[in-house]
Amino acid sequence: MDGLENRLVYRGIDVGSLAEHSNYEEVAYLLLHGSLPSQPQLDEFKRKMAVNRRIPAGVVTLIGSLPHSAAPMDVLRTAVSAMAMFDRKADSRESLVQTAIELIAQAPTIVTTYHHIRNSRLSIEPDPRLGHAANFLFTLKGIEPDEQDARALDVCWVLHADHGLNASTFAARVTASAQSDMYAALTTAIGTLKGTIHGGANQKVMEMLLDIRDLNRVEEYLGNLLKHERKIPGFGHRIYKGEDPRVSYLRRLAETLCEKTRNMHWFELSNKLEETVIREKGLYPNMDFYSAPLYYALGIPVDMFTTMFACSRMAGWTGHIIEQYELNRLIRPLGDYVGSLKREYVPIENRK
Ligand code: COA
Repeated sequence: MDGLENRLVYRGIDVGSLAEHSNYEEVAYLLLHGSLPSQPQLDEFKRKMAVNRRIPAGVVTLIGSLPHSAAPMDVLRTAVSAMAMFDRKADSRESLVQTAIELIAQAPTIVTTYHHIRNSRLSIEPDPRLGHAANFLFTLKGIEPDEQDARALDVCWVLHADHGLNASTFAARVTASAQSDMYAALTTAIGTLKGTIHGGANQKVMEMLLDIRDLNRVEEYLGNLLKHERKIPGFGHRIYKGEDPRVSYLRRLAETLCEKTRNMHWFELSNKLEETVIREKGLYPNMDFYSAPLYYALGIPVDMFTTMFACSRMAGWTGHIIEQYELNRLIRPLGDYVGSLKREYVPIENRK
């Protein structure tokens, strides 16, 4: 990623050209293997994903034993952690790419399985004929999505698949650098992504839009946030100081899907908020901003938004974890202690 040029590439390929011409499976292959697949390689990769979408029965039982009020990101983190105990090759270095493919394929199944369990319904079996994003929508809703919805989620997942050493990827690499297994590294990553100023921001964006609700309330709502020095979800970025290169694609997708559902309200509200924040604060939206009205138009429950990010980022995380193992050195930063170095141990009875 290049914050000055507002540019993002995966393995040297511009993310915009991947969003326009590629698909999630091809991007996952690119991130894991380093180059784009040939047609037979892609077919084999998709086949491996299709046959690995089911999760172990013990993990389904575990998910069923969790409170129905659990946050979907917590369930995903716990289920991925538990999956290690059902995988005999969890510690193997030889089968890392295979484990990565399995986990990329299984993450959406965990998310939809929990969603049906918490609504006291039977979960829906994955359909091996469908692509990764289409399959998620199918197992969520029980009806095959149309091409437009499936493509919108697919592009969204292409755009979320990797992003340099962001907080969750860095966390995953730290765990991997201690020579812990891939499941442990992913558990760390999911726990980090959940944070509200990282991946958790997309849920916060939608909650804010639902809270504002009325176009005429944007200025007042924003004024209130800023008066109390609160951060505006979906705006600002550590690296990009201009517009995040993924935003234009997500904005367009959100607009198209809102048009399709004949409900432009959330798009218009997002647009007005964007204009106002740029004008008042000089801050640009990040990727989480337009993902929110996009997921909402797709009918994805708001508390599941961050799991969408996690499902996509599985490809980036696993690619980074494998690279960390290959070039490993323990990641161990030094802290800068700024306190006194001349303090005496005081027995407890003498302490004030
Ligand atoms: N709302 C209000 N002010 C914001 C802001 C936001 N979303 N993002 C940054 N700012 C302000 C900071 O308060 C700071 O102001 P100051 O210089 O007057 O103190 C200034 O902009 C610079 O921000 P900085 O602290 O350098 O940003 P950061 O790199 O520490 O933080 C984020 C980056 C992403 C954590 C931050 O922008 C944020 O919390 N955004 C909202 C959450 C979000 O959308 N996260 C998803 C990120 S992809």
